[in-house]
Amino acid sequence: AAIMKGKFDTFMQKEIYEQPESVVNTMRGRVNFDDNRITLGGLRAYLPIMRRCRRMVFIACGTSYHSCLATRAIFEELTEIPVSVELTSDFLDRKTPIFRDDVVVFLSQSGETVDTILALRYCLEHGALSVGVVNTLLVRHCRVRPTVVFTSTLALKSVLLPPRRNQIIAGLHALPGQIKKVLELDASLQQLAATVSENKSLLLMGRGYQYATCLEGALKIKEISYMHSEGILAGEFKHGPLALVDENMPVIIIMTQDSLYPKVQSAFAQITARKAQPIVICNEGDEGIPAGVKTVDCLQGLLNIIPLQILSYHLAVKNGCDVDFPRNLAKSVTVE
Ligand code: G6P
Repeated sequence: AAIMKGKFDTFMQKEIYEQPESVVNTMRGRVNFDDNRITLGGLRAYLPIMRRCRRMVFIACGTSYHSCLATRAIFEELTEIPVSVELTSDFLDRKTPIFRDDVVVFLSQSGETVDTILALRYCLEHGALSVGVVNTLLVRHCRVRPTVVFTSTLALKSVLLPPRRNQIIAGLHALPGQIKKVLELDASLQQLAATVSENKSLLLMGRGYQYATCLEGALKIKEISYMHSEGILAGEFKHGPLALVDENMPVIIIMTQDSLYPKVQSAFAQITARKAQPIVICNEGDEGIPAGVKTVDCLQGLLNIIPLQILSYHLAVKNGCDVDFPRNLAKSVTVE
């Protein structure tokens, strides 16, 4: 294990620092930067069916669920097909209606999360075209109809129509270098972890594409540092969570520049009016602790999550937690 970790103390740190390479590996053979084309071989035969569907349903647990939330908007924008996002357990509990003309997308890093496999079987039984986005092959779990399997990050799914295509592909091209730049924030995030680690909670706030980033950041903080943390949609802030805010409550607010920036600014004003000390993730040149780098709106979350991963790491180390083996959690939950 020591060899596999290389120069890193933990697997988590290694994974964080290998993200510039992992996005390149994910794009290899799929994104062609010479002619600005994206090819997802496994999906090609099914695209005509997908284009005709009435709705898409994304289903997943945990971090994979947050990836679904993070990509819903770009899917809806480019395809004009309504997308609903479901937590697997709730989807199953509700015996959610699924039809033959639905396209259901399952996200699972491990491909082994039992709930997600059960939901896949359920959707296959209802005759829906079922697509798996996994890091391992999921095929052995389904017999009814061949499920299309491909390996992907959320970045890859976003490109279906030409108008925004060049912009997004250029964003993908720049991504590995930009991730490297954001990783340089490590030392200042370690300092930040030291200043907030004694607090009883840490709130994260954002909207639009950054709502999923907040939920995922809060999950990481809970999972590995055991500090309470909550991701809040900035638009909902005044409908309850604002009452939690006083001068002792650290609030991380994601303010990278996109079309919702003015609205996040007003949430920022609400926080400072309560004398809280906001911690701002923003683009270079803006105030606060910067994510530093600007990309296309739909890819910004891939950069913004990195300071939160690093912060959760340092909080965990500060609290003496084992980041690679969080208590009570299997890396991938394989029991229902
Ligand atoms: C477990 C892990 C989470 C993970 C979730 C989904 O609960 O603790 O970190 O996000 O499973 O895993 P999957 O392999 O399906 O993406």
